Amino acid sequence: MCGIVGYLGEKNTKEILLSGLKELEYRGYDSAGIAVLQDDNFESYKAVGKLVNLEEKTKDFTTESFAVGIGHTRWATHGKPTELNAHPHLGESSYVVHNGIIENYAELKKQLQADGVTFLSQTDTEVIVHLFEKNLKDASSAFEAFEQTIQEIQGAYAILLVTKSEDKTIFFAKYGSPMLVGINAEGEKYFASSDTPLIGHCTDVNYFEDGDYGYVDAQSIALFDKEGRKKEPHFTKLSTNKLSAQKDGYRFFMEKEIYEQSNVITDTLLGRLCEEEVLFDELDTQLFDGIEEIKLCACGTSYHSALSASYMFERYSKIKTSVEIASEFRYRQPIMSKDTLFVVISQSGETADTLETLKMAKKAGLKTLVICNVDNSSMVRLADACILTRAGVEKGVASTKAFATQVTVFWMLSLYVAKLRDTLSQEELSRQIKLLREIPTSVKVEDAMHERIKRLSKRYLHGHGFFFIGRDLFFPLALEGALKLKEISYLHAEGYPSGEMKHGPIALADPELFTIALLPQHLLYEKSKSNVEELSARDSTICAISPLEFDKADDFIQTKKHNDYMLEFFEMMVVVQLLSLEISVRLGNDVDMPRNLAKSVTVE
Ligand code: M6R
Repeated sequence: MCGIVGYLGEKNTKEILLSGLKELEYRGYDSAGIAVLQDDNFESYKAVGKLVNLEEKTKDFTTESFAVGIGHTRWATHGKPTELNAHPHLGESSYVVHNGIIENYAELKKQLQADGVTFLSQTDTEVIVHLFEKNLKDASSAFEAFEQTIQEIQGAYAILLVTKSEDKTIFFAKYGSPMLVGINAEGEKYFASSDTPLIGHCTDVNYFEDGDYGYVDAQSIALFDKEGRKKEPHFTKLSTNKLSAQKDGYRFFMEKEIYEQSNVITDTLLGRLCEEEVLFDELDTQLFDGIEEIKLCACGTSYHSALSASYMFERYSKIKTSVEIASEFRYRQPIMSKDTLFVVISQSGETADTLETLKMAKKAGLKTLVICNVDNSSMVRLADACILTRAGVEKGVASTKAFATQVTVFWMLSLYVAKLRDTLSQEELSRQIKLLREIPTSVKVEDAMHERIKRLSKRYLHGHGFFFIGRDLFFPLALEGALKLKEISYLHAEGYPSGEMKHGPIALADPELFTIALLPQHLLYEKSKSNVEELSARDSTICAISPLEFDKADDFIQTKKHNDYMLEFFEMMVVVQLLSLEISVRLGNDVDMPRNLAKSVTVE
């Protein structure tokens, strides 16, 4: 959700800012901009749409000696995605970029307007730069004005500001939105919303904490905490391994990420399985002492993997489990008891609503665990314990391999807890561990299957809606299939429990209602089949996904036979991912960056 970059040094500032933004573009891509200050002279460029438009606009611009620069790629919150609303925002002689939301912006804007300030954009961000310039008039230094500005704004932010009044300095502040600074032996300073743009440029990085603010110049970094006390940055080594995903011949990142699932799940399992038990070296077994309940909290796809986990925890570990949508949980004054392990799930580790629930749980004194894909992310740093999913960089906005690895971790974790609580026989535990080793094979994409889905997809480009239906664990998978389809095809889709269709939705059944039916052989097959037959009898168009022949369907995608429904789950997951992908491709949509979305939702 918006990406920020900043650079101070001697190299070509424009190139560094643009290449940093390229790494962050998946976070938001409705507009982008940069501002570069050199020898008391500002150059600023903005463009609506993808970064290529900004690259085109800046093609004749270059810097060759010392400069400071800031850049931003936007996902609109306040104001439409127009050039005027794109960052950086200009005051009289300063520019600002911001990620997050300034909650008291309306009030501040009113005061500034009353003082005669003219606003050019509809954004909340623009108040920051005007407030700074107002404060600058009476302050003894630009830093004093910046510090006062930070004290006056409320909300969530990562901010970079450059000003002619200190033209060799970048001011920064962070609260609730991620940001880090990187350094190297050449004395350069780099800022970004995540570490990927810094890899290859910096040796050491400092992740800012909430309330941190300060400034950098060529010589130093001045850092202050939220009470205004000076503090030392805490630098850690930055990985030199550029994980930056390239498409490697695939048409889209999403496609590549679907194909990668077999390999990344192998990584997820690595070192965590032995014949008789699941091992999580990163967990202290005491984490589960005194725990009577697990509460899972997440958003979007991560919420779906949490739902699937609730079936596994109750079935295998025999522990009461509940699942919450983070944005709901935050405000419903939930009862939190200390015998509950609070687990958040997040690909990015930065999703604002999920992060907030983690803070709530910590405040209430609960033990906390995060299942996350991004090491060093805000959630990883905050939770008591962490299991990394090891999916690698996921660039497609529609999450695929992150979901696959989350479910894999949950399957392992439910067996780990089962062992601790002695709820499964050793024989069953060993059988399950064997099955876990088979996931990588079950998610391998076979050419024939992909071709079949490609061909079928042309029949599903219209209609008045899709129902993905499944029972038990295949209900969360149905939800996930529907979410994938709507995100990238813009067709209306719902996930529904198969048995619930007759309680209302079946009224919609007609040939233009497309039902994607998940029919695993090893879990409630007969019951699910009857539910699909009810829809078929009402002439709904049915695409059945099953290892068993099903003659009541209009289309049939046959999956392989497996010994257990968990492996059927993983294979069907790939089928629904590919189906969404191919429908989106046929509709000519931008698969990797679908409209109105952003990869990481760091605003509530
Ligand atoms: O990074 P997170 O897992 O916390 O993100 C949560 C959701 O925003 C995310 O899963 C979203 O629903 C995806 N676009 C789904 O494909």
